[in-house]
Amino acid sequence: MGFKVGVCQFKPELMQTEKNLEKMESLLESVSADLIVLPELAASGYLFNSEEEVQIIAEDSYDGPTSILFQKLAKQNNTSYVVGFAEKTGDGIYNSAMLINPDAFIHIYRKTHLFYEEKKWFKAGDTGFKVFKAKNNVKVGLMICFDWIFPESARSLALAGAQIIVHPTNLVLPWCQQAMLIRSLENGVFSATSNRTGTDKAGIKELHFTGMSQIVDTKGQIIHRMNKVEESVFVTEIDPLESEDKNITEFNNLILDRRTEFYRS
Ligand code: ACM
Repeated sequence: MGFKVGVCQFKPELMQTEKNLEKMESLLESVSADLIVLPELAASGYLFNSEEEVQIIAEDSYDGPTSILFQKLAKQNNTSYVVGFAEKTGDGIYNSAMLINPDAFIHIYRKTHLFYEEKKWFKAGDTGFKVFKAKNNVKVGLMICFDWIFPESARSLALAGAQIIVHPTNLVLPWCQQAMLIRSLENGVFSATSNRTGTDKAGIKELHFTGMSQIVDTKGQIIHRMNKVEESVFVTEIDPLESEDKNITEFNNLILDRRTEFYRS
């Protein structure tokens, strides 16, 4: 079964939600795909100075501006989208990602492993690693950025049946893109990592984001990797059913050969 999956890489401007949503809309409005993944905190930027700033950019998952735009695009383009946003809830703000399907159904994942100063602004995610159905019932597992460094994140999603790991990011460390090749290989799943590019400056603080958004196949091979600075959308056709085959040789299976009695938690 052919399934068109894409990643969208661009440079958000810090605290400029409206402008960033306009940019995403113009990058995406004429792109045909079944599923497109966008970066972490795509509409707000990343490097905050205060809790007040995070309060200002936090959004409701149903009637916030990011949700409203992607509900419209999902219906108009018959595409599922995964996009990172600061999720405002009754008990605090989470670093979340939403999967919005063409039928307007919305699923939420809240980042489990917070990175660096995120611990000052966001609550640690409470959703756990769940698999959701995107368009055509393709099973997608959501994780956000720094979740990658804990192999348990991708493993949990694979054990829950994910065919594609969808991975919105704002990467600043140099290791993730290469590590995700192994996450795909060791779990026999596709992965789509969407990173941002550019620099966020907040007072004396500055962070540079590494771009290189990529789509990886179930054997850990790069289907496509963007460069560090481009602002673009890349779409490729995959067969999600390839991820159902966990055999490495006729004697070896990635899931069934595990010796969990010898592993520590
Ligand atoms: C990160 O988790 N945004 C590095």
